[in-house]
Amino acid sequence: MSHPPLKVWEDAQQSVYQGDCLEVLRTAIPDSSIDLVFADPPYNIGKRFGTFSDSWPSEASYVSWCQQWLDLCVQKLKPHGSLYLMASTQCMPWLDLHLRAQLHILSRIVWTYDSSGVQARRHFGSLYEPILFAVKNPRHYTFNAEAIQVEAKTGAQRQLIDYRKNPPAPYSNTKVPGNVWHFSRVRYRMPEYQQHPTQKPEALLERIILASSQPGDQILDPFAGSFTTAAVAQRLQRQMISIEQNPDYVQAGLKRLGFLD
Ligand SMILES: C[S@@+](CC[C@H](N)C(=O)[O-])C[C@H]1O[C@@H](n2cnc3c(N)ncnc32)[C@H](O)[C@@H]1O
Repeated sequence: MSHPPLKVWEDAQQSVYQGDCLEVLRTAIPDSSIDLVFADPPYNIGKRFGTFSDSWPSEASYVSWCQQWLDLCVQKLKPHGSLYLMASTQCMPWLDLHLRAQLHILSRIVWTYDSSGVQARRHFGSLYEPILFAVKNPRHYTFNAEAIQVEAKTGAQRQLIDYRKNPPAPYSNTKVPGNVWHFSRVRYRMPEYQQHPTQKPEALLERIILASSQPGDQILDPFAGSFTTAAVAQRLQRQMISIEQNPDYVQAGLKRLGFLD
């Protein structure tokens, strides 16, 4: 059962909509107004989000639903905007093919973590989730390489000299991260833990937001969940539009952002 979308919060930095993202995207978000989209939808793997069950009658119907909101997200992006998409390993190929007809996919990222809850015994257990990083214009997009530097082992630990340079110079101590990202999953008792079945780590969103937006830029998350994107955007002084259909998650999100006691 769907309810009409409700704008439940708006201030100078944050807007929160409670409702179906398809409807909010169609009716409330102007075209070409968003610098960065981060989309982490239900994966069609049978998780429960409150009363909503993340299970479609077929993979085809799930993919067709994803294509609808993905097309709207692309329509909402500014000409120099970026989009990050998370999906299950099995469905990502469909969405990759669909998106590459309209965006330029610059990175296929693997977010890998230490252990999954259930250990597989008859196949190789899944220890990663794929993330696509795509832009509208590959010649003009935001990428703040300096803001996301990580340690470069060759330079920082082994202290090697690069003899290909003239004169030879030490290797740099830092570098832009590659496309395999190690961040541990959010677990009970971690300070950032919220009661949500698929909460993403703040460190993951921090890297994405720092790399692909400037302070003051407009970010959109059509599946806010526990409002991780909004919490990190708040800390990093970006503008944020969050959409979430579950009223309990919206209330918890407003608390996480400090708007409710
Ligand atoms: C994978 S979770 C997002 C998790 C989030 N990235 C976080 O870090 O907490 C997907 C969320 O989408 C919400 N959702 C499912 N269908 C939706 C729809 N049609 N419109 C808006 N939200 C929806 C679910 O309630 C769930 O909280």
